[in-house]
This record gives sequence, C-alpha cells and structure tokens, in this order.
Amino acid sequence: MSQTERTLVLGSAGQIGTDLVEELRRIYGSDNVIATDIKDQPADFKAKGPFYMADVLDAQQVYELIKKNNVKQVYLLAALLSAVAEQKPKAAWKLNMDGLFVMLDYCKENTGIKLFWPSSIAVFGPTTPRNLTPQQTIMEPSTVYGISKQAGERWCEYYNQKHHVDVRSIRYPGLISYKADPGGGTTDYAVNIFHDAVLKTLTTVF
Ligand SMILES: NC(=O)c1ccc[n+]([C@@H]2O[C@H](COP(=O)([O-])OP(=O)(O)OC[C@H]3O[C@@H](n4cnc5c(N)ncnc54)[C@H](O)[C@@H]3O)[C@@H](O)[C@H]2O)c1
Repeated sequence: MSQTERTLVLGSAGQIGTDLVEELRRIYGSDNVIATDIKDQPADFKAKGPFYMADVLDAQQVYELIKKNNVKQVYLLAALLSAVAEQKPKAAWKLNMDGLFVMLDYCKENTGIKLFWPSSIAVFGPTTPRNLTPQQTIMEPSTVYGISKQAGERWCEYYNQKHHVDVRSIRYPGLISYKADPGGGTTDYAVNIFHDAVLKTLTTVF
C-alpha cells in the first residue's frame, strides 16, 4: 500500500481497535490510519493521529470519509458482542448486519478496497463437534451474536463470489486484552478481574 492510500478503522475505540490502530499506525504511519467510533476519544489519543466520530449505520458519512481520504483498507469492528446482543437482540442484528452491508455495498461499487471483518467462534453451537472442530462443520449457533456472525460470513462469501469484493475474515476466539474496557463479550470477566484488581489495589494503597 502506498503512503497516500489510507486505512479506515470503523468502531476503533473497542477492545480490538485500541490495539489494532496502534499497530497499523506503526506499520503505515499515524496520518495514514483513520480511527472512527461513535464514542468520542480523549485528547491524548486524538493528538496521535486522525480520529472522527462516525456511525457505521450512516452510509453517507462513512462513504465520504473513504472518498475524501483515499481509503484503500477498511477494518469494520463496530458490533454488539455476545452478552450485550442477548440483551438487545434487534439492535445487535441491525448493527451487526446493516453495518456490514454498508461496507459490502460500497466495495461492490468501488473496486480496489480491502475489507476486513472479524467473525467469531460464536458461529459454532452446542451441536458442533467439540474436539478438533473443523472449519466446515455443523454450525447451529444459539446466540443472536453467533447467528449474526454466521449470516455475515455467508454474505461476505456471497459478495466475494458474485461481486468480487475483496473481503477477509477470521473467526476469533474470546480475546483478552488490557487497554480497552471490556465490550460485552464472553471474555469480559477475565478482563474485568484484572481491571478490578488494579483499581482496588490502588484504592487500598492510596
Ligand atoms: N473481542 C473479542 O473477543 C472478539 C472475538 C471475536 C470477534 N470479535 C469481533 O471483533 C470486532 C470488534 O470487537 P471488539 O471486541 O473490539 O468490540 P468492542 O465492543 O470492544 O468495540 C466495538 C466498538 O464499536 C463501536 N460502535 C458501536 N456501535 C457503533 C456504530 N454504530 N458506529 C461506529 N462504531 C460503533 C463501540 O463504541 C466500540 O468502541 C467485532 O466485530 C467482534 O464481533 C471480537
């Protein structure tokens, strides 16, 4: 990717985006990686590189950002994760599916853009073989989040095959990290115990 071609991260303020933006900026240079989220970010983050408030469900806003900045790679991270999706099933379905269509449709009409959209092991379900789980196997997810990821995978495949959209996806397991607050996924507990340990220890010490 040439230096004037930029990367856009949609939903950059969450668990994956926080680390991903830092690493992409290390690789491509700070000015070439545009971070966006519906949540505003602290001034020290904004000082490190471009950040815009943007809603992935607002297609025109996203498309303008892409065109104005000569974006050639998009990481679509905005989603409602497993635990939150169970509490707000319709909102989760809307964000997880419509957000994906905003980008798939753009890439269908505008060639030369690489789209990265993370899937999840939530596509599997209770009937999936537990040991050495194959890539292609029984997938009967039992959560709203899992159903949206399974449908999303099929749509990515469809847009790739029918419209040659360059979209790539990996099924991540539950990730544990320390910089961002947990976003409502299966690993929240594991992240929270470390945050709490630090906060409560500091409170006790000071
Ligand atoms: N974290 C994991 O363990 C894990 C595992 C598998 C797959 N994934 C996938 O990776 C992606 C990112 O996950 P994460 O853990 O960083 O999630 P997260 O919840 O921590 O972050 C999501 C971000 O999206 C933003 N957002 C929500 N609605 C938005 C909207 N309408 N427009 C723009 N931004 C919006 C939120 O403010 C948040 O900052 C998701 O697609 C998720 O399904 C995550």
